[in-house]
Amino acid sequence: MNIIKIDKQHDLEYSGFKLQKTGLLPIGNPTFEQWQECGQFIQKASGAVQLWLGDWLNYGEHKWGEKYAQAIEDTGMEYQTLKNAAYVAGKIDLSRRRDNLPFSHHAEVASLEPEQQKKVLDWAEAENATVREVRQKVKTIKRQLKNGTKEITSKITGQIIEGDCLDKLPDIKDKSIDLIYIDPPYNVGKDEWDSIMIDDYHDLIHKSVKHALRILKPNSHLFIHFPAHKASWLEQFILASFRIEPSSRIIWHYRNLVMGRDAKTKFLNTYQPILHYAIGDKPLNFNQDWNDERFDVWTIATVQSNFEEGKFHITQKPLELMERIVEIGSEPGDKVLDFFAGSGTTGIAAQKLNRDYILIEKNKEYINVIRQRLSTIH
Ligand SMILES: C[S@@+](CC[C@H](N)C(=O)[O-])C[C@H]1O[C@@H](n2cnc3c(N)ncnc32)[C@H](O)[C@@H]1O
Repeated sequence: MNIIKIDKQHDLEYSGFKLQKTGLLPIGNPTFEQWQECGQFIQKASGAVQLWLGDWLNYGEHKWGEKYAQAIEDTGMEYQTLKNAAYVAGKIDLSRRRDNLPFSHHAEVASLEPEQQKKVLDWAEAENATVREVRQKVKTIKRQLKNGTKEITSKITGQIIEGDCLDKLPDIKDKSIDLIYIDPPYNVGKDEWDSIMIDDYHDLIHKSVKHALRILKPNSHLFIHFPAHKASWLEQFILASFRIEPSSRIIWHYRNLVMGRDAKTKFLNTYQPILHYAIGDKPLNFNQDWNDERFDVWTIATVQSNFEEGKFHITQKPLELMERIVEIGSEPGDKVLDFFAGSGTTGIAAQKLNRDYILIEKNKEYINVIRQRLSTIH
């Protein structure tokens, strides 16, 4: 059996290798079996080290109080790393931890009650869930707890309307909508639907925003998505037309689709702005825990054809992005409206998050895509 030894320099020796902070060295001439065993040890240690650290800290604090604080300083580690490790280890009893799930999964469930932790970890194991999926699950559970039974029992109504939004919007009642997301054509001419005469384009944007302001409830939220190079025009246009300024300018940042790869005289574009207008004083539906969702830069990959959610539209927005907007911009049971629905991502997010929704899209092909995508949600 291999034994871990610690030499005079505080380096580890295990299974024919010396493991020092800067790397690994053979001791003499290790066998293939020793090499294999050492690899297994490294793999196990790398996944376990944060929980070891957390248990070590909690044990030290419990047993030696003050003395422990000095020992922590001596480790030279960052306070936040230690605090996080101790928090996660302290919240999740050894009996509930899973050796086939990484620390990050445990960290996501740490703030839940033990019974809920077990449920989510069981599910994560069975579904091979990513850390993002675990985070989403935890958020949903917290919101369900916060909203009592409302989220569980409310019945969702969804409406898909085929046609030009300027013809269909007059049918929507004044002050009846809680959240509007507008992702208009960009007018950059990539596709037939995206090349419109400039006057008509300005008219489309002007009338869309005017309708939005008419049908939004006095306390509600409006999000308008635009390409980076046109966002300042849009902001000024809306300010001049309606005298409103954005409450936030969200930056959707992505690195997996770099625009203008051949450009030599400019920087490559990896973001799109989303103007957010809070109407009245409805609070955003933030999680009680202080986390990244409160900040205005959101890093989310653009949808690729090999993604699980599928790619159906050239400017399809990622489901993660739309879930974030719908979840934070509204409450369960609220009514969400998208004037330029495209592949219907807003509706999918709304349905998953228990919001009523209305989707308007003028292209029949995309209407079929929306129906098909929505029918696959359970
Ligand atoms: C930028 S895309 C929306 C993409 C969508 N957010 C998604 O995730 O798939 C704009 C969409 O608006 C549609 N459209 C353009 N003009 C419209 C109009 N006047 N009324 C309704 N839909 C329109 C286009 O067919 C296109 O699918």
